[in-house]
Amino acid sequence: MHVLTVLDHPNPASFSAAVARQFIAGVESSGHSSELADLNAEGFDPRWSMADIEVDKGSAAPADVLNEQARIARADAVCFVFPLFWWGMPAMTKGWVDRVWSWGWAYDQLDDPDKSLQRPRTGILLVPAGARSDEMEDAGYLAALETAWIKGTFGYFGFTRRRLEVLNGSTGSAARRKALLEKAYQTGFALLPAK
Ligand SMILES: Cc1cc2nc3c(=O)[nH]c(=O)nc-3n(C[C@H](O)[C@H](O)[C@H](O)COP(=O)(O)O)c2cc1C
Repeated sequence: MHVLTVLDHPNPASFSAAVARQFIAGVESSGHSSELADLNAEGFDPRWSMADIEVDKGSAAPADVLNEQARIARADAVCFVFPLFWWGMPAMTKGWVDRVWSWGWAYDQLDDPDKSLQRPRTGILLVPAGARSDEMEDAGYLAALETAWIKGTFGYFGFTRRRLEVLNGSTGSAARRKALLEKAYQTGFALLPAK
């Protein structure tokens, strides 16, 4: 498989960047090829603009969007790595999703969240979060993210196999962080093709 990892963090020394590196190490150890989209380092512009809107009226997509779509086109699996910000995606990832996975390219209807214009792919979300897993479950945040992302978003993108892996306790002890990095490696190593 060819695996695209989409990293959203401006700091190469961050835990999220380490998670992406470990995931990629697992992917490559398993014999897959990989590509990194380091959105902050590359200066992707997450702002949805008139140029994006005009695509619906027949204009060509902006060059930066076409570039990202070409990356996705050659990938069999896409892994998102971003820190959980206010129980959601940071602005960079949100803008990348909004602009790149566009109407007419990724999907063209809203009645069936499992219908996509894209070929089947595997989609993984590796999301470091400061909170503990029981806090997230008890408050309903985990269920809300599963609903919004797994049920309501990534099927439209053709991710027939999709999984949210929240890496809880990302700001915790060294032992905790080590265990989470090992989980990121294993997730890459054991990656399965689309169903
Ligand atoms: C703006 C902001 C919002 C955050 N919101 C949440 C949140 O809603 N839930 C949570 O568990 N952690 C939250 N955090 C903590 C981050 O998820 C945590 O700092 C991150 O996973 C650590 O990884 P990093 O070193 O890659 O930044 C937030 C952090 C920031 C800076």
